[in-house]
Amino acid sequence: MLFKQQALLRQKLFVLGSLAIGSLLYLVARVGSLDRLQPLCPIDGRFGSRGQDEIQLRALQFKRGLLHEFRKGNATKEQIRLHNLVQQLPKAIIIGVRKGGTRALLEMLNLHPAVVKASQEIHFFDNDENYAKGIEWYRKKMPFSYPHQITIEKSPAYFITEEVPERIYKMNSSIKLLIIVREPTTRAISDYTQVLEGKERKNKTYYKFEKLAIDPNTCEVNTKYKAVRTSIYTKHLERWLKYFPVEQFHIVDGDRLITEPLPELQLVEKFLNLPPRISQYNLYFNATRGFYCLRFNIVFNKCLAGSKGRIHPEVDTSVITKLRKFFHPFNQKFYQITGRTFNWP
Ligand code: A3P
Repeated sequence: MLFKQQALLRQKLFVLGSLAIGSLLYLVARVGSLDRLQPLCPIDGRFGSRGQDEIQLRALQFKRGLLHEFRKGNATKEQIRLHNLVQQLPKAIIIGVRKGGTRALLEMLNLHPAVVKASQEIHFFDNDENYAKGIEWYRKKMPFSYPHQITIEKSPAYFITEEVPERIYKMNSSIKLLIIVREPTTRAISDYTQVLEGKERKNKTYYKFEKLAIDPNTCEVNTKYKAVRTSIYTKHLERWLKYFPVEQFHIVDGDRLITEPLPELQLVEKFLNLPPRISQYNLYFNATRGFYCLRFNIVFNKCLAGSKGRIHPEVDTSVITKLRKFFHPFNQKFYQITGRTFNWP
């Protein structure tokens, strides 16, 4: 009898203990997210006067509690009506460059309470079939957001596709355009690595990078190879400049985003006229991944998928030297046009 009572007591204590630990964990988690719900500092002159570009802070403060569901596209009709949620055309687009770190940039910007990302690459402007479906089709692909949040999408193919600048201009001539670049030879090898992995997945063989990047007849850089062409940033940018002034572009240093993301993100916040809300707390280095990962609050964090940060194959140093020499004059022109200089060899 006594033994039974003791067992019952132990059971009760166990349940109470679990409840207490659960509540404690919940509170800790709440404090983490509440921390990010603190009222925001008033916008000062740095962000300009109230206007089209300004993000209403009222909207930001509500974001955290509800956004998780909206992002997943789960907003119910009731929620949409209650919170005046809308699907908005993007105010900023990450137009490229493929393998520059476009996904990392989008995900990191999405840490900002005023930013809502379109998760998928929409390929509206570079794909004729999609483009023919019209702007309403594009808008319907956007996530739900508060009217004063900004939507950002990324489709790296936009940067190199001929028709895209004019098409985006027709949608919104004052849109903000983000380009993330890496040292051109590294980017080209990263591009090659992605294609190589795709071939390997299908059990196909593929050429070595050296064979593709160098023309065997001339022994010069093969400018017909897409991975090389994409890295001639200035050539593509010049096409964009026929439609948009240089001030409408912001160049992100993709190499620095890997090693030191916060200052790069702060520059983007400024460019987008957003109050500075992304902090070191939101970014932590994950030694296993070898990259920075994202921390939303004390319980919710994530690293990018394993397809980001592949190991590159070793490339013949003479080929690397040749490529770097080839890109050099284009890089100089790129620095000159954009006003952003990199230490690329
Ligand atoms: P590698 O796979 O060559 O390392 P994109 O998203 O445009 O395809 O770019 C992919 C690149 O983003 C990766 O190239 C990787 O180096 C870079 N990157 C930058 N920040 C990263 C991060 N925090 N986690 C993973 N990859 C990141």
